[in-house]
Amino acid sequence: MATSWCFTLAIFVVILLASPNASLATMNVIDKCWRGNPRWRNQRQQLATCSVGFSGKMTNNIGKGVIRYKVTDPSDDPLNPKPGTLRHGATMIKGKVWITFKRNMNITLQRPLLISSFTAIDGRGVNVHVTGAGCLLVYQATDVIIHGLHIHHCKSQPPSSVMGPASKVIPLGQMDGDAIRLVTAKKVWIDHNTLYDCQDGLLDVTRGSNDVTISNNWFRNQDKVMLLGHDDGYLRDRNMKVTVIFNHFGPNCNQRMPRVRHGYAHVANNFYQGWEQYAIGGSMRPSIKSEANYFIAPKLGNKEVTWRQGNRQDKASWKFYSVGDIFENGASFSSQTGVGGAKPFYNQEQNFKVADARSVSELTRSSGVLKCSRTLRC
Ligand SMILES: *[C@@H]1O[C@H](CO)[C@@H](O)[C@H](O)[C@H]1NC(C)=O
Repeated sequence: MATSWCFTLAIFVVILLASPNASLATMNVIDKCWRGNPRWRNQRQQLATCSVGFSGKMTNNIGKGVIRYKVTDPSDDPLNPKPGTLRHGATMIKGKVWITFKRNMNITLQRPLLISSFTAIDGRGVNVHVTGAGCLLVYQATDVIIHGLHIHHCKSQPPSSVMGPASKVIPLGQMDGDAIRLVTAKKVWIDHNTLYDCQDGLLDVTRGSNDVTISNNWFRNQDKVMLLGHDDGYLRDRNMKVTVIFNHFGPNCNQRMPRVRHGYAHVANNFYQGWEQYAIGGSMRPSIKSEANYFIAPKLGNKEVTWRQGNRQDKASWKFYSVGDIFENGASFSSQTGVGGAKPFYNQEQNFKVADARSVSELTRSSGVLKCSRTLRC
């Protein structure tokens, strides 16, 4: 009798350990850092130590004086945000804020949502959908974490005013309808979000934004997916450095995964489930290192991963290259790439080991918003 009970327990434990989203061995370096911790719910801020790439570790978001703020009210008042709403937590609280959500909720933004410096939005454990006007805007701010949100059906917004940091009303210009837009933002980590079906694009990094890591997100159903660099004339974006890792692009993405102007992008270990026009490209002599990605070309149409705009001289001075990428379904990566490689030159806290491209489908399997069970690992 006792033996059979033990046996049943043993089987149960084996099933728990083998449950599909709990295998540490197949997690990427960011996930491995926190998802194996069964106490992650009580130790949420540990997440900030897990980022890699150009954002570096997000340790300015944690430590002494962090205010824990829980969103309890899905409503939105852009000029007079009520306590308990996401907008109140993201704009009205001074210093370091770690925002979580009390329950599943759908938030329809009435206007774009400004996120102030030293703010972490942490949607783990619940299902939070953000839609409406805007949507998220990091404007002249630093040290921002956006984790675990579904953001979709974001619509354009004509010039308007919203409540901003330090309870000051801020006039905003036209917003095109992107899920997340960074404008002159620094040290930002965007991880495990699911982004789709927005009016303009899904993620724009513009106007001198820098030190950004975009990881573990799922981008789908979109024409223009990701823009890095404001416009051809915006020379300050020459200093821009962005890391794009462990993301899943597709299905139904057309172009800009990403489109880069001027700056530097390290695009590694991403899973590309087709494209229409192209996957990675740009203009104004950007530097792009495409490393150990898994490119599956669309069945019909354009098989070429890259797209480069500019005259011949321009194109010749690009630093655009592919290392260790895998090409399926006839995908190709044009090797007429000008003067050759540019390494990311990460410092110690940004550095990470790029995995073999053959493991990319495994490493990106849980991209987008994670399903975390209440009692187990995430
Ligand atoms: C959010 O909206 C979806 C439909 O878009 C609905 O299925 C879901 O129940 C809603 N969730 C909440 C918490 O209201």
